[in-house]
Amino acid sequence: MRATDRSDPFLQPHELVAADATSVYLVGDGGREEALAQAGAPASLCALAQANSFKGDVGAVLAGEAGVLVGVGDGADPFAIAAVSEKLVEGVFTIANPPEDAKARENLCLGWALGRYQFTRYRGRPARGARLVAPEGVDLEPVRRAASAVALARELVNTPAIDMLPDALDAAARVVAEGAGAKIHTIVGDDLLTRNFPLIHAVGRASAVAPRLIDLTWGDPGAPKLTLIGKGVCFDSGGLNIKPSGGMALMKKDMGGAANALALAQMIMGAGLNVRLRLLIPAVENAVSGTSFRPGDILKSRKDLSVEIGNTDAEGRLVLADAMAYAGEEDGPQTMVTLATLTGAARVALGPDVPPFYTDDDAFAAEVAAAADKAADPVWRMPLWRGYDKMLSSTIADLNNAPSGPFAGSILAALFLRRFAPETATWAHFDIYAWRAAASPGRPVGGEAQAIRALFSVFEERHPPR
Ligand code: BES
Ligand code: MN
Ligand code: ZN
Repeated sequence: MRATDRSDPFLQPHELVAADATSVYLVGDGGREEALAQAGAPASLCALAQANSFKGDVGAVLAGEAGVLVGVGDGADPFAIAAVSEKLVEGVFTIANPPEDAKARENLCLGWALGRYQFTRYRGRPARGARLVAPEGVDLEPVRRAASAVALARELVNTPAIDMLPDALDAAARVVAEGAGAKIHTIVGDDLLTRNFPLIHAVGRASAVAPRLIDLTWGDPGAPKLTLIGKGVCFDSGGLNIKPSGGMALMKKDMGGAANALALAQMIMGAGLNVRLRLLIPAVENAVSGTSFRPGDILKSRKDLSVEIGNTDAEGRLVLADAMAYAGEEDGPQTMVTLATLTGAARVALGPDVPPFYTDDDAFAAEVAAAADKAADPVWRMPLWRGYDKMLSSTIADLNNAPSGPFAGSILAALFLRRFAPETATWAHFDIYAWRAAASPGRPVGGEAQAIRALFSVFEERHPPR
């Protein structure tokens, strides 16, 4: 009986008969009476609002006999509805005053689904089971795909390193590949040396769990080639340039780029976009042991550029460099996207909620910016400022992985990657945080998906299913 299946966040309008839904009123924060009247709330709920000084602030929920009020504030947060599916764990609900706009309705449903997410792996908790009767005209398939991709990214990032080392990340990628009928294979440990991935091996060799390169392919070999690459540093201790405790505390999330790339791949495959998709994840633990790579070491990369190690804590760009070089070989992709929790400097520049992205392709950048806005998945373009390229130089190698100056850390990391990007492809790089430090409706504290809903909609526009 679907009408009583709590695991599904949605019902179709025609399933309502048996379900007997509770009305939810979206209330803005304009003058209190006015906003309530506008929402069409019944008199008893208005009185309850009065008695409880309900003001329509985002996240405020007030449940009465005649229905539920949820604050949507100034209307800027399309996921405000998630406050209801977060707080009310049982029941079937319907929106009394859904927005007119089709995209806003879709975002509302996504918000509903996101509000049900909670990280329960390590403690029993009652599952959130509130269900929404989908407003008219919403196609739930893309909503479900986005919600499950976001949940996947969150789950992988939230899982602590002890259970999410390179082998576990590999296993997670295999589950996604299997679900989508993709091919996947992994190059593990010393094979990285024989197959010429010296940087991935060097960064990951000190760990008890072998470093690896996960390589997934899917789709029509004749379709436009799209390659996603995600930084899979399963724990970043900093290596011998060890991080102080504050800096290390959250470093289970340093595989956030990989988690997001995998989640994006899942959406693309699930939607059947017309691309030849490749997903590469260099998966390593940046650990401390007698076999750690060292400051001052000079390592030859796959691309034959030598890299002087200025800092073992600038490890992400190293593992990405080998993966990018590999992806660009032979018949390389038209489009390459790198996703990585690459620099603390990106957070200094734009804070935790707005990941910077870099590309030389103005048209692609404009599409990303527009899609980000529509999907409420913010990103902000920053420049691949060539004038700073010289800061990457070394006196004894082709490049230094960690320039000593205090400036432009996120740009410099992107410029470093640029050296390994194929010259003919569109390459875009996202320096994400993959973490939410402060909760808002539908966005709990913890691992977070960033940039992937925006990117998905760009690729959906460009390469719709055939
Ligand atoms: N994983 C970190 C970057 C990071 C830190 C992302 C905190 C999000 C939050 C990365 O490997 C790193 O340590 N980068 C260094 C680079 C520096 C040594 C040039 C950084 O940002 O300090
Ligand atoms: Mn680091
Ligand atoms: Zn790192």
